[in-house]
Amino acid sequence: MSHPIIETLLQHKGEYVSGERLSQELGVSRTAIWKQIKKLEAAGYRFEASRKLGYRLVGEPPAKLQLGEIVNQLKIYPFVKAVKLFDSVQSTQNIAQQLAEDDAPEGTIILAEEQTNGRGRRGRIFLSPAGSSVSMSIVLRPDLPLQFAPQLTLLAAVALCRGLRELTGLDIGIKWPNDLQVDGKKISGILMESTAENERIRYVIAGIGIGVNLLEEDYPAEMRNIATSLRIAKGEEIDRLAVIVSFIKHFTELYPLYLREGFGPIISLWESMAVMLHKKVKLSTSAGIVEGVPIGLCESGALLVKKADGSTESVFSAESLLSAQETPDIRS
Ligand code: BTN
Repeated sequence: MSHPIIETLLQHKGEYVSGERLSQELGVSRTAIWKQIKKLEAAGYRFEASRKLGYRLVGEPPAKLQLGEIVNQLKIYPFVKAVKLFDSVQSTQNIAQQLAEDDAPEGTIILAEEQTNGRGRRGRIFLSPAGSSVSMSIVLRPDLPLQFAPQLTLLAAVALCRGLRELTGLDIGIKWPNDLQVDGKKISGILMESTAENERIRYVIAGIGIGVNLLEEDYPAEMRNIATSLRIAKGEEIDRLAVIVSFIKHFTELYPLYLREGFGPIISLWESMAVMLHKKVKLSTSAGIVEGVPIGLCESGALLVKKADGSTESVFSAESLLSAQETPDIRS
């Protein structure tokens, strides 16, 4: 990434450049410079800042993903048909969708260093700063009825959880339906967007976002209690390429298994990694609040919640109002 602040600081390597001088040279306010510095920090650049002297670039520039290396590592997986890497995009989902409409085959993978408008579920923005996150969208073309699409979300969560556990050794769990958590905070989100014809899936874009090397200060203050990165949890920098490969490795094992044997094996795996099971939850659904204890998944991908009156309710989509971390496992 060539950024005017980086270029200016590189011209004065090792020296401080005042905020005032940067703002004059770049023709923007000092506040704008400070905001850009924060963005660059999130992208992996490191600065020393002094009230009197200004800013100085320290350490190595962040390592960028290299298409050649990615292709080299992914070529052993026959599922992977094409890999495209972008510097900065609004959302990898949009690009994958366009490619799918243009007949891109299943196994087309879109990656971006940065998303300026990363999409989360329920219309939320997903934070994907340059250099420190993984933003990936994959074209899938399973020959399945549309109603099976939620199963793919859960399958992707299982593959990602397995991959990241194997890579980092961290105690990562799945918060229903498909957020990955560590230390009670979100590290990853999955967004599946399906297009159908006559109630059968035409294609699904599997969007995976992972906070890999973000530091505490890279998150807006209001997110610090709810989101974290692999680097914060592990206490060391994590190789983003290894993160990508770890997901693809497990996804390409589980996806054919699912297409062959159905959702049964995935349910068991998902349940073994879920953080919410057997703990009291309070869920906000479109039909109102559901309180109870999740006891498993059903074939449809819905969460089965046992309520105080002994009845069970299938919840398809909800927001958790009471997190699993706040409540003990009621079996113990
Ligand atoms: C969520 O947590 O609500 C889902 C987040 C999904 C984010 C990923 S990042 C790659 C892909 N591109 C997007 O715009 N969103 C998904």
